Amino acid sequence: MDIVRRVFPMRETCRQVRGTQRRIGFVPTMGALHDGHLELVRRVRELSDTVVVSVFVNPTQFGPNEDLERYPQDLARDADLLIRERVDYLFAPERDDMYPVGPATEVEVSELSTRLEGASRPGHFRGVATVVLKLFEIVRPHVAAFGQKDAQQVAVVRRMVRDLMLDVEILVVPTVRDADGVALSSRNAYLSSDERRSARALPRALDAVREAYASGMRDPEALRRTGRAVLEAEPLLRIDYFEIVDRDDFTPAVEASDRDLAVTAVYAGATRLLDNAPLGG
Ligand code: PAJ
Repeated sequence: MDIVRRVFPMRETCRQVRGTQRRIGFVPTMGALHDGHLELVRRVRELSDTVVVSVFVNPTQFGPNEDLERYPQDLARDADLLIRERVDYLFAPERDDMYPVGPATEVEVSELSTRLEGASRPGHFRGVATVVLKLFEIVRPHVAAFGQKDAQQVAVVRRMVRDLMLDVEILVVPTVRDADGVALSSRNAYLSSDERRSARALPRALDAVREAYASGMRDPEALRRTGRAVLEAEPLLRIDYFEIVDRDDFTPAVEASDRDLAVTAVYAGATRLLDNAPLGG
């Protein structure tokens, strides 16, 4: 595996790979890799000849009071894990190289970016969409993988690809979970052992909603109450939102249907935890 630390060499390498008709698969990440990230790598590898993984803690998607400066980072460990997955290139650019000047041009996926995660984290999805477009331009992948764990991010990226007619296939990979059901996340590293135990309530709340839906409950308000009740029983958790939304535009459901998602964000102490589950199937 080659580790590439600069934008222009990465772009040049990917241009050459593309020129030899090899399909490029790409997995953008912020590092602190876990099995969820590695599952994206494995899935994208099946669809491509050359695999590029980026590790870049993107400052523009963090709010002023968020965890940018303490976000877990260990490039040597990440590189070891990626070598074992037979990744071809690890792209780990410096901040100054990705943002040599404060950008005047940014990508805004309107409306969708202002709901739920976007309402709690103003500007977050502008930062995500912009850096993903920049990374796509550097790597020029045929296929790029994203995790269903960040369902609204998937919706934002898909909408950007459609609106800007980007020539890339988006592969969405189901959420990888620990044995106790908790979704893997780099931020789980912040949790105390009590908080980690409380976090099991997220998948339990989502399961309760799915069961209620499966047995015929269609009123989104009743479904919300079902999920919230499970979370509220955990004293260490504070709910930011628990909603039933359309999976593409994240508008609230009027009558719940198979195309909807139950989505939640919860604080355990200072740590923000996200999870979601489709109602149908
Ligand atoms: P990061 O949080 O590092 O996640 C990188 C990718 O891994 C995302 O597509 C995310 O949805 C996926 N992922 C994380 N946990 C997962 C899990 N438990 N199961 C399946 N997939 C999982 O998301 C970002 O970075 C950034 O916003 C990024 C897209 C890299 C732009 O900066």
